[in-house]
Amino acid sequence: LELTPFVDPLPLPQTMGVAYPGKLRITMREIHAKIHRDVAPTLMWSYSPTPLAPIIEARSGHPLEIEWVNNLPTKHFLPIDHSLHGCGHDIPDVRTTTHVHGARVPSKADGYPTDWFVPGKSRTCVYPLQQDAATLWYHDHAMGLNRLNTYAGLFGLFLVRDEVEDSLHLPSGKYEIPLILYDREITADGQLFYPTSGDPEHPWVSEFEGDGIFINGKIRPHVEVEPRPYRFRILNTANSRFFNLSLDTQQPITQIGSDQGLLSTSADIPHLILAPAERGDVLIDFSKSSGKTLHLRNGGLDILQFRVSAQTTSPNSSASIPKNLRTIERIPESSAVTTRTITLDEYQDKVGNSMLMLLNHKRWHEPVTERPKLNTTEIWEFVNLTEDTHPLHLHLVRFQLLDRRRFDVFNYYTYNKVRYTSDALPPTPSESGWKDTIQCPPKAITRIIVRFEGYTGNYLYHCHVLEHEANDMMRPFEVIA
Ligand code: C2O
Ligand code: CU
Repeated sequence: LELTPFVDPLPLPQTMGVAYPGKLRITMREIHAKIHRDVAPTLMWSYSPTPLAPIIEARSGHPLEIEWVNNLPTKHFLPIDHSLHGCGHDIPDVRTTTHVHGARVPSKADGYPTDWFVPGKSRTCVYPLQQDAATLWYHDHAMGLNRLNTYAGLFGLFLVRDEVEDSLHLPSGKYEIPLILYDREITADGQLFYPTSGDPEHPWVSEFEGDGIFINGKIRPHVEVEPRPYRFRILNTANSRFFNLSLDTQQPITQIGSDQGLLSTSADIPHLILAPAERGDVLIDFSKSSGKTLHLRNGGLDILQFRVSAQTTSPNSSASIPKNLRTIERIPESSAVTTRTITLDEYQDKVGNSMLMLLNHKRWHEPVTERPKLNTTEIWEFVNLTEDTHPLHLHLVRFQLLDRRRFDVFNYYTYNKVRYTSDALPPTPSESGWKDTIQCPPKAITRIIVRFEGYTGNYLYHCHVLEHEANDMMRPFEVIA
């Protein structure tokens, strides 16, 4: 489908501000929406009457209660794989459970994959929000289905704010713009297409990228901006696609935050690379571009057009970009009580197609093997034996990246020993803050340090490539007292 770019204005989501202690009701439904001027309305699912779910805006330390209501039809419009765990023919086709990605919550409010509910039902969750300001998001997490439910449109942004952030006087109001990025394949008649393997018994595909690049519900839109600094909250909600973002003017992007909040200092970066589920909190200064047009680019493709007006309407618009943002203490390695080694494994069929990817050679339903103790610190090292980068996400916690180091995979398989082939690479500025999702590149060991704070109970960790997650690249962990 060839479409003229930049014809649609960038839609902005409605914000659900909350009085404290707040209570919200969010309803999932089937809708039809225009994804581009020249495309007939597209069937999708959403947490709102429009393709853009409301931004939930909350305050650190102020609990929020949300009733998640499932008003979806009982038939799914995307191809379910009934051979996947938890997707049998005896289980309802349409099931949902909402996970607030990055929220520190008791297990029963975490959107555990088996805590699903069917159309006509709802579930109420309380989010204590004892955590720093951050760009969180929410999405479906139903066992074996969330790759399809998220693809159908069940995702939204969830911002937590606090005093540290307030004190920086970052661009706000209309100068703070969310950019929710994803890709979809669109059929000739404008409908969402999700592929199947061709095996009717096992239609699962190992990953999927679509040609249509969407921002906030539109394919390659444009946005009018003023010649001044803006703050953009960028989220990658794609199933499998990584975004590699830059400006076509070569002007750097100033990154001020990542998954779990502000960086310690702002960093000018030429590219922002976001794996599925990662977030980038950035500033872009248009003050030298009045009257010009520039673009946000993914790889070689311009995906968003900025039309800079001649003048700004706000006083005080040249507010300088703060350098020091937030104190982030590095967690000393010596504080870790244990190091867990977790392999990322890939199994291939006879013709070399990827059939299955697992963590520590284990499937989801096998007994829990990771039982960290509440209020202790651990190092987790992800030994990636596959050919791909996998974004690994842990529920409940935030963590810091220690380093990444390449190793000899052949030697590992043959002698079960690590032989390093590079020095340990420390985090770049983009990855030096608090994270909840980490890119684990192939043939490398990625080490993170985690303090298990908050609550005891059942949680999970998994690859955030949704196809991998659905086919068992997901494991439980339990925080014990
Ligand atoms: Cu964003 Cu377990 O997920
Ligand atoms: Cu993966």
